[in-house]
Amino acid sequence: WMRYDTLADANAQAWRSSINTVVIPGDSPTMRAILAELVPALSGLLGKSIAASANNTLADGTLVVGTPSTSSAIASLQLRDALAKVGDEGFLIRSEKIDGRSVTVIAASTELGALYGAFHFLRLVQTQPASGNLNISEKPRFLFRLLNHWDNLDGSIERGYAGQSLWKWNELPGTIDPRLTDYARASASLGINGAVLNNVNADAKSLTPEYLRKAAAIADVFRPYGVRVYLVPRFSAPIEIDGLETADPLDPKVAAWWKAKTDEIYKLIPDFGGYLVKANSEGQPGPMTYGRTHADGANMLAAAVARYGGIVMWRAFIYDPVPGSDRAAEAYNTLKPFDGKFAPNVILQVKNGPVDFMPREPFHPIFGSMPHTQVMPEVQITQEYLGHSNSIAFLATMWREFLDSDTYAKGPGSTVTRVVDGRLYGQTLTAIAGVANTGDDRNWTGHHLAQANWFAYGRLAWNPDMSAREIADEWTEMTLTHDRKSVDEIVRLLLESREAVVNYEMPLGLAHLMDNPHYGPGPWGYPVARPDWSPVYYHRAANDGIGFDRTATGTNAVAQYHEPLRSRYADLSTCPDDMLLWFHHVPWTYKMRSGRTLWDELCLRYQRGVDWTGDARKRWDALAGIIDAERHTAVARKLVIQQRDAKWWRDAGLLYFQTFSKQPFPADVDQPT
Ligand code: GCU
Repeated sequence: WMRYDTLADANAQAWRSSINTVVIPGDSPTMRAILAELVPALSGLLGKSIAASANNTLADGTLVVGTPSTSSAIASLQLRDALAKVGDEGFLIRSEKIDGRSVTVIAASTELGALYGAFHFLRLVQTQPASGNLNISEKPRFLFRLLNHWDNLDGSIERGYAGQSLWKWNELPGTIDPRLTDYARASASLGINGAVLNNVNADAKSLTPEYLRKAAAIADVFRPYGVRVYLVPRFSAPIEIDGLETADPLDPKVAAWWKAKTDEIYKLIPDFGGYLVKANSEGQPGPMTYGRTHADGANMLAAAVARYGGIVMWRAFIYDPVPGSDRAAEAYNTLKPFDGKFAPNVILQVKNGPVDFMPREPFHPIFGSMPHTQVMPEVQITQEYLGHSNSIAFLATMWREFLDSDTYAKGPGSTVTRVVDGRLYGQTLTAIAGVANTGDDRNWTGHHLAQANWFAYGRLAWNPDMSAREIADEWTEMTLTHDRKSVDEIVRLLLESREAVVNYEMPLGLAHLMDNPHYGPGPWGYPVARPDWSPVYYHRAANDGIGFDRTATGTNAVAQYHEPLRSRYADLSTCPDDMLLWFHHVPWTYKMRSGRTLWDELCLRYQRGVDWTGDARKRWDALAGIIDAERHTAVARKLVIQQRDAKWWRDAGLLYFQTFSKQPFPADVDQPT
């Protein structure tokens, strides 16, 4: 979306005549970054050379960018109140007359705000009609807008499908890959202001002086773009790095170790953001290893960073292989007793759903259930369970569904968005995290269209009210084509894509049906270290039906939701089809709303997903010539794989489930082979 190819239509002509020069006074790294972005970008987009000037001379068609302190022209506009309203990271974009000249102004209180305004302006030029009456004010809704990189120190990326890590740990700090700057530009263009550099399954080595110097070199590159660096500490690091006898968070020696380590980090990275912690989950050490609680662990680390204004994001992704337990209910049961017990600079980082980034899950019941705890969502941009980088699955629709979910915590309208953006409970530290889908592949994300998910995440982190359609439209225009008919077609494909994957992978509320690399189908199960990692634990298919009974006759996890949602989910007759088998174990012959039996409906959903992939191929092929051949062909090839995979999922799922349902395939479904 930062190609800046020349715009060609009539609208472009209007933009072309309204911008001639840019005036960007100031010589800080951020002001230089703005200049370095705007001049080539506008020259490219407008197809003419844009002169840059650092002095404050204005002419008609000047674009002025800065703050009241860097620009006398901006200072002269008396924008104090308007700027105060948009806060530290917001900006104003206005058409103004200064000394009789018609100019465009991008103004902010801080240089970072000006940078965000510059990127917003570039987006306007690419997606909106030219206007001589601009009057825009924007500010982000979340304070912390982070990407989480599950990058290992050996260069691999856990659940990464776009090559190796962008952080070349071997080469750092001596050699700085120029792509680090491009990564920071792309992230900042969306307003992303933080990057957690290392995997949540952390290696203690990331906190050694050697690796901290490498992280500091990355932070130096990111700093002008406002992307702050965060790290995942391994909870047992005091033992592993310095030979302490314990990592008990209540041991004063341990707390002192973390303080000293944190001092060391801040010396190297003065704007270090803080820690993200995965503790006592999937084999990671944590406070419970030492007989302490999650709150004890989080608060000990919080005290170490609080002195510098840093934060601790404590992950709620915790579950144990307790026989008979329901994984979906565990995090809530473990953490809810600690509501109100976390330090003021701790935020509980909660995955969107209670199990694990499945193609569809209900929202996590912790949202709206811990009113005295700061809570932030974690979504997954990398497509661990949605076809890796071989499938189109535009995730803005999924995140929209999640953010719009009504928790009913304080009556109707208590949406997840309002829980996490501070409106419902007055939470002050608001944040959102996305598990990145970037890597060192030439196209950044493995699949050209998966870039749209990085983009969508950033846009929603800035404004969680944006519609999936608006986001898809912006991205397509900026990245692929301005041809309206083609944009509409691509947007339709994007918007349909996630539901298609749900249909051919895990329809009707089924979950966790994948094989071990989390790519293809594996509903029959396979040897796993723990029962709650096996697909059979989740689908519970048997001769009497399929699905996980989470109502009072089962695990009663549904009781974690507020009324009236609890009853709506718990009652078979009101539970939405999309969540049916998440909450209920349903007989194969159960009559669905459609009038079909459950078995027939299941077959139909799988078929619908497969049909979409065939249809998508045809529609994409018809776009040949609209988009450059290289990207067009690359996506077309991926769609061939996606269609193959969809059939694989359908055939595997249906043939396996048929061994229980003992029902024939309905006539309107292709016979699986
Ligand atoms: C999933 C994923 C793991 C990851 C974990 C997490 O289980 O498969 O690779 O470590 O989530 O979010 O911590």
